[in-house]
Amino acid sequence: MQIEIFELERVQSLWENRVEFNLTESGVHPYTLNELLEEKDVAALADLRLGYGQTNGSIVLREAIAALYPGAGSDNVVVTNGSAEANFVAAWSTLDDGDEIVYMVPNYLQIRGISRAMGVTVRPLRLRAELGWQPDLDELDTLVTARTKVIAICNPNNPTGMTLSAEAMNAIVSAAQRCGAWLFVDEVYRGAELDGKDSASFWGRYDRLVITGGLSKAYALPGLRLGWLVGPVDFIEAAWARTDYTSIAPGILSDEVARFALQPSLRARILERNRSLLRDNLATLQAWIAEQPVEMTLTPPKAGGMAFVRYHLDMNSTELTTRLREEKSVLIVAGDCFGLDGYLRIGFGADPEYLHRGLERIGEFLDGCRMLRA
Ligand SMILES: Cc1ncc(COP(=O)(O)O)c(C=O)c1O
Repeated sequence: MQIEIFELERVQSLWENRVEFNLTESGVHPYTLNELLEEKDVAALADLRLGYGQTNGSIVLREAIAALYPGAGSDNVVVTNGSAEANFVAAWSTLDDGDEIVYMVPNYLQIRGISRAMGVTVRPLRLRAELGWQPDLDELDTLVTARTKVIAICNPNNPTGMTLSAEAMNAIVSAAQRCGAWLFVDEVYRGAELDGKDSASFWGRYDRLVITGGLSKAYALPGLRLGWLVGPVDFIEAAWARTDYTSIAPGILSDEVARFALQPSLRARILERNRSLLRDNLATLQAWIAEQPVEMTLTPPKAGGMAFVRYHLDMNSTELTTRLREEKSVLIVAGDCFGLDGYLRIGFGADPEYLHRGLERIGEFLDGCRMLRA
């Protein structure tokens, strides 16, 4: 099976640990265990026997995850290695050669890549900059047909940080209902809303619904590689049968730490720490944008640590990010990685001082490009 390069992940894999300033992350400055847990809990982890855990996730953890989705129980959950594995397994459990899906773009293009490799036709549902990154609902109606097996969306969205309007959410559910399609919703950025209010989940709105999520973004714990799938019990059983082939089980340390992180009081503390950092850093980024010699426009993100910035310079986004990396040792993501040249995705969830210094470097680079203003 041929599979296309997952540009976004590849660029990050190649360069993120080789530059001085990595502003490609879409989440929040990660925790250490000592910052996250009490001393006695860190000590208890040292005594944990490093065997295999429960392969679909411990019952305690699955119950804690299920508690985030009203009406769900532990049987509606399978724990995965990151939401990336959850997305992979969802696609692999559902799609076959010759199927067709409707897929939100711009997006984290994982499900698109897997689908194409499987011989699935991917029909893009475009988010429109002129609509504040909402989809055109007439277009949605045209795209979803009896041939649609899955509608796959990401809400809050990567890279725009947009959250869908209530009208768009209703329209997406109605479109899926009309043809009986599965609805896959990647909600990994849920919990990282800048206004402090949880964005609406699709959970409970439709029976053929699968949510993917995890601790990498809103919880600032990407190194745990802890994600999940939530869906109907028979779907979850089929997905678990597939994780026997992918990774067998989540790491037992990650399962244990995730149980702490999802305890209500610690969870609330984590989300507040992260949202507050994101709010302050977005203000820093917006102030920086206003001062740049090159015009940039940003529809402020509603969630997540990423800003999808339109820049007005006569330079392709891959060329710009490559030169920035080579000349200033700063890594950001080219709009090209999302199929939208003319944009840059700047991660602003980093440590504030680090962000400030990274932005300064980008400013120096842009200063040298004044002559190329579009
Ligand atoms: C929308 C979306 N889904 C899934 C992932 C994978 O995240 P992880 O496997 O760390 O949970 C990412 C990572 O950037 C993402 O942006």
